[in-house]
Amino acid sequence: MTPDLMDEGARRVAAHHTLANLADTESGGRQASTGRAVRTGDLDLTHGRILYLEDVHVSFDGFKAINGLSLDIAPGELRCIIGPNGAGKTTMMDIITGKTRPDSGTVFFGGTIDLLRYREAQIAEMGIGRKFQKPTVFEQLTVYENLELALKTDKRVWPSMHFTLDSAQGDRLAEVLHTIHLADSVNRQSGYLSHGQKQWLEIGMLLMQEPQLLLLDEPVAGMTDEETARTAELFLTLKGKHSLMVVEHDMSFIRTISDIVTVLCDGSVLAQGTLDEVQADERVIEVYLGR
Ligand SMILES: Nc1ncnc2c1ncn2[C@@H]1O[C@H](COP(=O)(O)OP(=O)(O)OP(=O)(O)O)[C@@H](O)[C@H]1O
Ligand SMILES: [Mg+2]
Repeated sequence: MTPDLMDEGARRVAAHHTLANLADTESGGRQASTGRAVRTGDLDLTHGRILYLEDVHVSFDGFKAINGLSLDIAPGELRCIIGPNGAGKTTMMDIITGKTRPDSGTVFFGGTIDLLRYREAQIAEMGIGRKFQKPTVFEQLTVYENLELALKTDKRVWPSMHFTLDSAQGDRLAEVLHTIHLADSVNRQSGYLSHGQKQWLEIGMLLMQEPQLLLLDEPVAGMTDEETARTAELFLTLKGKHSLMVVEHDMSFIRTISDIVTVLCDGSVLAQGTLDEVQADERVIEVYLGR
């Protein structure tokens, strides 16, 4: 092992212990769970954060895309993230989901899970669902089949392998259909859905896996006003049951759904507060109007 790698390992162990200690202190000495297979139900939320980023850095060919980013999200919170193009919003999601490795920093899921130790697929299995901007539903399959497919771990064998839902899964599917407003389109081929309906279906596919944390990158881009309004309703229903991180440029949508808004700029947090507070912040006005 090179000295660099040893330093990296030591740093992660140290970071892990810092947060584990924090969890211990705040929960009155409760033992943090370590070394076990990671399952959603094991998530330690005793310190009141489902997601915790501290001093994260990423450079691409010397360009600092993420530059000292620190941020945390409470369980059940719906956090909105805004910021100009190139601020690092998508890159932040890439880091949380294991798609991009940061050069340095701390990224924890709950009090004890150091996300930097896991691969993208493992992070998804832990209960962090991610919605990219473009819908990626299976257009030739029905709404029902897409939701059913979301429960399968090995998607390559679909549809050749027989797969039936157990009753809990069936109930879950019915509930998700209702939540995403697609109960009337259950047998419709997904390719014929509107853009907004496809986006809801993809969110439904994430919900089938009962994620603790949902990361949504520009979810209402390309939607009609009516679809945007329904998406706002949907997110408000999900809040509390799941934690959500929503990146959006549509400020009227943000106004409808937001509690706390975090403004990213040049790879770190520029401001945080209610939408009114951040919109009145001179530095925020400057980065939006100055570019
Ligand atoms: N893989 C990469 N290689 C090189 N540069 C990258 C890479 N990914 C992102 N960047 C750069 O990092 C910066 C942050 O990009 P990012 O996509 O995170 O911004 P964003 O806040 O999501 O912007 P937008 O609002 O336009 O989606 C940009 O300057 C981008 O060009
Ligand atoms: Mg982006």
